[in-house]
Amino acid sequence: MKNFISAHDVKNIDSLVQAALAYKADPFKDKKLGADKRIGMLFLNPSMRTRLSTQIAAQNLGAEAIVFNVDKEGWALEFEEEAIMSGSKVEHVKDAAPIMGNYFDILCIRTFPGLKNKEEDYSELYINQFVKYSGIPVVSLESSTLHPLQSLTDIITISETLGFPRLEIKRRPKIVLTWAPHVKALPQAVANSFSQWINAWGQADFVITHPEDYELDEQFTKGATITHNQDEALKDADFVYVKNWSTFTDYGKIYCNDPEWMLTQEKLKATNNGKVMHCLPVRRNVELSDEILDSPSSIVTREASNRVWAAQAVLAELLKK
Ligand code: CP
Repeated sequence: MKNFISAHDVKNIDSLVQAALAYKADPFKDKKLGADKRIGMLFLNPSMRTRLSTQIAAQNLGAEAIVFNVDKEGWALEFEEEAIMSGSKVEHVKDAAPIMGNYFDILCIRTFPGLKNKEEDYSELYINQFVKYSGIPVVSLESSTLHPLQSLTDIITISETLGFPRLEIKRRPKIVLTWAPHVKALPQAVANSFSQWINAWGQADFVITHPEDYELDEQFTKGATITHNQDEALKDADFVYVKNWSTFTDYGKIYCNDPEWMLTQEKLKATNNGKVMHCLPVRRNVELSDEILDSPSSIVTREASNRVWAAQAVLAELLKK
């Protein structure tokens, strides 16, 4: 693994899951691996889970994680090639990234999409410029279109719930990704990434359900069954992944915000005692009801806690290189 930006950077997802669960069982077993190593964590957007779990993961490996809130504490960065920098941007990534490449051994970056210009967001300019100019491994802490550490965590959590390793696979689990209402236009990154990783993992029957006009980019969803009928999708589901996203085709809009799409205990009855997942933060009683979040069906806290082991497995693999 050279960088950790998408599922395509990982040769064997199950090996990474196994490594993560081994860290969960014994967090400090590689505490010397990161000795004298520095991990830069650049945030262009807010975070709670990603920031804290990655810092803890680095510390478990004996590495030092240095957090830099670029959006609040740094110079405004220009990312466009050949830009005439007569506006508000103070420093070009071409100048900043190689310096960070000298300061750090691994660079982790979080950046959100603007949701105004699809081509710009889907070009992943920000993270790609850091890959191009830093000269060190880059880890996505969520980019414009993907959230790989979250998706790896999600597969770890699903695998753990099913029992890992599954020596006797009797039945492929049914995993449903369902759209949920929200008050804001949110990125497609978590939904894209979950789809990409579940498809790459290839060990589940994968169904995506959303209202009309919320189709995701086919490059991530290809292979999944897609339906606008949520009730139909939920039938016999083993895992229900709840997430809002804004429109992809007519980019970054909210078309439908029908509260009927919020998952309830009544709807969950159609599942196979389905476990409910969400990346968090969650808008209670908008995206997901209290009755589900506070019930044994919800595994969101374990899912978020597993973020540490996903980050530790990824950082360890990059440090070993
Ligand atoms: N799920 C997730 O990425 O959470 P944060 O935004 O708090 O990091």
